[in-house]
Amino acid sequence: MSLMPLDPVSTLMLEEAGPLPDRVLVLDDPEGDLVAAVADAGVQVRAWNDDVRDEAQVPVDARLTGPFTGWSPDLVLWRLPRALSALEDYAQTLANDLPAHARVIAGARIKHMTPGQNAVLRRSFAEVSASLGRQKARVLRASGPLPTAPRWPQRRYVPELGVTAVAHGSVFATNRLDPGTHLLLRTLARATAETGDAQQRPRGAAIDLGCGSGLIATWLASHGWSTTAIDVSRYALLSTQLTARAQNAEVALRRADGLVGVPHDSVDLIVSNPPFHRGAAKDSTPTFAMIAAAKAALHPGGELWLVFNSHLPYLPALRAQVGPTTVEAQDRSFIVTRTLKEPTR
Ligand SMILES: C[S@@+](CC[C@H](N)C(=O)[O-])C[C@H]1O[C@@H](n2cnc3c(N)ncnc32)[C@H](O)[C@@H]1O
Repeated sequence: MSLMPLDPVSTLMLEEAGPLPDRVLVLDDPEGDLVAAVADAGVQVRAWNDDVRDEAQVPVDARLTGPFTGWSPDLVLWRLPRALSALEDYAQTLANDLPAHARVIAGARIKHMTPGQNAVLRRSFAEVSASLGRQKARVLRASGPLPTAPRWPQRRYVPELGVTAVAHGSVFATNRLDPGTHLLLRTLARATAETGDAQQRPRGAAIDLGCGSGLIATWLASHGWSTTAIDVSRYALLSTQLTARAQNAEVALRRADGLVGVPHDSVDLIVSNPPFHRGAAKDSTPTFAMIAAAKAALHPGGELWLVFNSHLPYLPALRAQVGPTTVEAQDRSFIVTRTLKEPTR
């Protein structure tokens, strides 16, 4: 493994860990640099990443591809998630599975940390303490796992859609209906009804791109589409599977970065509430990449439907890179666009 200079969070985590024990689990290491540093110390290391792009940074033989509970470590080095629901989900899973002697060192940039994180960790570990800050980073140390009945994944009936959403704690909006997604599905339902074809009948192949808890995928599958749900996140796909099952809907799952690997001219409809950040940082790059790839994936005559925050600059890219685009709905925050890949003459 090539050794990259460590960022301040990884550096502090390693310092706080002290001499490394035999078996170290690294959870959600975005650059793979922490895994490389631990391997370099000559101890056994395994890495588990929710995001397939992060997983790609880790050598194959160090990857845990099942649940992260599949390997029993002495020490866990963990990039602290920002959302308390994600923290609780991971912490409970760890506490239910770790050997009693195992320690957890969880680090983040101080600006992304809150006192609420300590409180959540205390419900899953007997001892929790915070390090001093260093170079804008801090770690929380946890030991003495306290097994409990896991609170995640959680179910919620979503009356606006008449479905039950099931989600893990790290998934976008967890099991709630995002207002943008709601506007998108209302608009799609109206457009479908306008064709005079409101009855359920087999339609073509559809993709929910960036499926999160799977509400869009489940809606598509329940309206006759042969549906594939794509997300970079393991927990998103697990949640989508649970949401689809709760409705007896059939949804194929694909863990991938955008439309990578989707055959050309193979899809009739792509629907997405696309990502607007990666980790804590705002980032439109993945959405621009999705737009750039959509034309190739769509059949001629196929459509791409997006919902996004009105201030985001996707309209020109949709028109230039996919085809004629109309604004189908707009409210104070969101815009819903419909883009046609023109049929070949
Ligand atoms: C705004 S959320 C929408 C989630 C869900 N569709 C909804 O409407 O509630 C965007 C989703 O895209 C996923 N995502 C981010 N980058 C991605 C990428 N490059 N390829 C596929 N999915 C991605 C995220 O994990 C997240 O689940």
